[in-house]
Amino acid sequence: MNDFLIESEGLKYTYRNGAAYVAVLDGVSFSLCRGEAVAIVGPSGSGKSTLLNVLNGLLAAQAGELRVLGRSALTLSQDDWAQLRRKHIATLFQDGNLIPTLTVERNIAFRAGLAGLAENDGAALMERLDIADTAERYPDQLSGGQRQRAALACAFAMQPKLILADEPTGSLDYATAQRVTPLFFDAIRERKVGALIVTHNPELAERCDRKLELREGALCPWDSALSS
Ligand SMILES: Nc1ncnc2c1ncn2[C@@H]1O[C@H](COP(=O)(O)OP(=O)(O)O)[C@@H](O)[C@H]1O
Ligand SMILES: [Mg+2]
Repeated sequence: MNDFLIESEGLKYTYRNGAAYVAVLDGVSFSLCRGEAVAIVGPSGSGKSTLLNVLNGLLAAQAGELRVLGRSALTLSQDDWAQLRRKHIATLFQDGNLIPTLTVERNIAFRAGLAGLAENDGAALMERLDIADTAERYPDQLSGGQRQRAALACAFAMQPKLILADEPTGSLDYATAQRVTPLFFDAIRERKVGALIVTHNPELAERCDRKLELREGALCPWDSALSS
């Protein structure tokens, strides 16, 4: 058993809409270890969200090799992927992951329950993320920053091994992003979670162990000096 959470080699993904083909991923190779945070940057439309959805099994790559949490994608059924997403892989989608009919507290408990955890550390997480006062509120009664932090609390409550975050500070104003970023990293580091973080936020990217750019369908080391 090695420490790799993700190992990918030559992953390809093309959307097909009738006769139209959109080749988005064209040979993505990289790995992510336990406890490691990797930033992914790239222009809008370069395929960052597509990549995260290939890595969590919502989309199936048409070519290439993928191992997630030590298991080959070739051997994973839809049920296996669903189980991985419930228990071990938390995806923070761009538009938030909260269930609108549940309060923040119930959202957190629900996610922990889906992961098979009888108890949850929701109160501590909310305290930590500075949203304890929102416990009884519904998602539409929260500010963008509070919603984002509630989604983070849900992700951590399931005690995942891997977090795939799609622009986790994308809908936050600068000051709130500044506050959320350290909290995010503290929780990742403390729990030795592996994190792949799609971001346009330079400060978030700087805190990661490595930065990769998705360019022309492939991942390459990102040199911020070149892109500015
Ligand atoms: N369901 C879809 N059908 C066809 N093309 C799509 C679909 N979803 C995304 N795309 C296209 O794939 C490309 C990559 O999209 P996406 O992964 O969302 O990029 P990013 O997250 O980097 O902005 C874009 O050109 C987008 O228009
Ligand atoms: Mg996207």
